[in-house]
Amino acid sequence: EAIEKGGYEHFMLKEIHEQPRSIANCMRGRIYADEARINLGGISEYAVKLAQAKRIIIVSCGTSWHAGLVGEYLIEEYARIPVEVEYASEFRYRNPIISEEDVVIAISQSGETADTMAAIELAKKAGATILGICNVVGSSIPRLSHAGMYTHAGPEIGVASTKAFTAQVTALTLLSLYIARQRGTLPASKIATLLAQLQKTPQLIKECLKNEPLVKQIAYEIKDSTNCLFLGRGINFPVALEGALKLKEISYIHAEGYPAAEMKHGPIALIDEQMPVVVIATKDSSYDKIISNIQEVKARKGKITAIVTEGDTIISEIADYIIEIPLCEEALTPILATIPLQLLSYHIAVMRGCNVDQPRNLAKSVTVE
Ligand code: G6P
Repeated sequence: EAIEKGGYEHFMLKEIHEQPRSIANCMRGRIYADEARINLGGISEYAVKLAQAKRIIIVSCGTSWHAGLVGEYLIEEYARIPVEVEYASEFRYRNPIISEEDVVIAISQSGETADTMAAIELAKKAGATILGICNVVGSSIPRLSHAGMYTHAGPEIGVASTKAFTAQVTALTLLSLYIARQRGTLPASKIATLLAQLQKTPQLIKECLKNEPLVKQIAYEIKDSTNCLFLGRGINFPVALEGALKLKEISYIHAEGYPAAEMKHGPIALIDEQMPVVVIATKDSSYDKIISNIQEVKARKGKITAIVTEGDTIISEIADYIIEIPLCEEALTPILATIPLQLLSYHIAVMRGCNVDQPRNLAKSVTVE
């Protein structure tokens, strides 16, 4: 096992550090940036069906559901098809309205999650086209789907999903641009720019990983908290959800992810000097708004850790701690902003003496209901 961990103390840490490679593997052979073209061999037969879809429904569970929420932003923004993101366990039991013009995308690391499989069966019976986005090659969901793409992140052993999540988001970014290209909803020049940027993400992730010593110091400050709030807006709201899920899964600290503006309708009541608040505050279209949200937290003495764009001088004045990520296209911030949040949860859990790779009560793959 020590050999399998490649010198890392835990599988989770190894998998976090593998992300430059797993993302590169997810993109391999799929991007022709100069031609603004994406090659998705497993989907090409269904390209027209996808481009003509009246609606896309994403079904998944856990971390894969968070990837789906990022996918919703990307597909609606670039491909202009309405998207709904559903927990597979809810979708399967609520008599959903599904038509033959719907495309259902099932996202699953393991490809074996029982609820996601049941959701697929239901949608298939109603005549929808099913695309699977899975990591484990040859697993059940790819076999149940009409078409799909593998994320190629490699085996993920740690129960808390890390590299599988960023690969799912990468796959969804590719898929959204692929549909946009088919539909002509985005100029080829913009697609080319985004693809070229996406190709740089492995390098940018390496930059994010260099912040680990700083993240560890912040982890030390947060480790004894009983609660933690994660805030984000727009495309980074799902990143806040994923940050909170990671922390609660492995450190057993109660954590909640919230859209930052929604805080005033509830969680703001919880904020005092005991409450760490982690905010994704990169320079994107929500930047000014998120600054006001940070000020609202500070006014109530909350302790802010902000994930900011490199060189940000405004938030460093207000926040207690900042962690920088490189400047990138807004669409790519979820991948980069996730890295420090994974490291933060990991180090907090280790400091609390938790079993990071096998947290209590959790399974890597939930194959029964
Ligand atoms: C379990 C795992 C999570 C995972 C979820 C969905 O809860 O512990 O890490 O996100 O199942 O699994 P899937 O394999 O379908 O992505």
